[in-house]
Amino acid sequence: MSDGYVWFEGVPFPTKGFTPEVLREVRESFVFKDEDVLILTYPKSGTNWLIEIVCLVYSKGDPKRIQSVPIWERSPWVEAECGYNALKDKEGPRLISTHLPIQLIPKSLFNSKAKVIYLIRNPRDVLMSGYFFYGVSSFAEKFESLEEYFEWFIKGNLPYGSWFDHTHGWMSMRGKENFLILSYEELKRDTRSIIEICQFLGKKLEPEELNSVLKNSSFQVMKENKMSNYSLLQDQCLSKNGILLRKGISGDWKNYFTVTQAEAFDKIFQEKMADLPQELFPWE
Ligand code: A3P
Repeated sequence: MSDGYVWFEGVPFPTKGFTPEVLREVRESFVFKDEDVLILTYPKSGTNWLIEIVCLVYSKGDPKRIQSVPIWERSPWVEAECGYNALKDKEGPRLISTHLPIQLIPKSLFNSKAKVIYLIRNPRDVLMSGYFFYGVSSFAEKFESLEEYFEWFIKGNLPYGSWFDHTHGWMSMRGKENFLILSYEELKRDTRSIIEICQFLGKKLEPEELNSVLKNSSFQVMKENKMSNYSLLQDQCLSKNGILLRKGISGDWKNYFTVTQAEAFDKIFQEKMADLPQELFPWE
């Protein structure tokens, strides 16, 4: 186990903003309400993009709120100390984010009708996105090279642990009425996923409202929105070059993996995910 993380129940967490005490309290005591909406991802899967879309669906495309309230306040991270404190006594329906693996999620989720939107992404792109992001952040352990980071990803020696375990755990919820699975790749491909989000949340948008959701959640617009691009936190947790919105494309891993790495990853993916239907993973 590495001491570059905060550890809780065998899962590594970033060194800033997380403590075993709060993580325990969150799991045992946080109460999900039926009217809550939970944004669920493994880190670097497009979490903030999904938050932006959901906020815009709620506002019917009106960008006023996404331009005036920081994204982490619009949808706080339940497992982070500040997010938990902001959420626990909040009245009314809440938009909540989490990267927690299923075994650490507040137990109350399983007895509530809270709606969960689970966004997955090709783990090869997740790997590359994390490589660039953690490389300039001040809360993850430092790696020497892509080779080393690649090994860490496979072993799960990264914030929130193994992508493979995380995905296995949450996929056990598929088919539940209050659990919507989307992929980054499909979200990029066309508007069908956004329509699915609207239906899942029971929101009916006019075509021009939908266009405004698409426009205001686009990569370029989000990159320029200081309430969404994390530039406000640059000095606290990201170095000067730290950018959340890096490229925003599918398949960027092909520009970085060697042939050997690509083959090794394919083999590991097949071994570790063999028990799940391939159609769950639209990039495969
Ligand atoms: P890249 O590093 O591949 O560019 P998370 O929010 O979970 O940390 O995920 C970050 C990834 O989502 C980054 O991927 C980022 O560029 C991408 N992303 C964020 N907003 C996006 C948007 N509006 N459209 C497409 N991708 C977006």
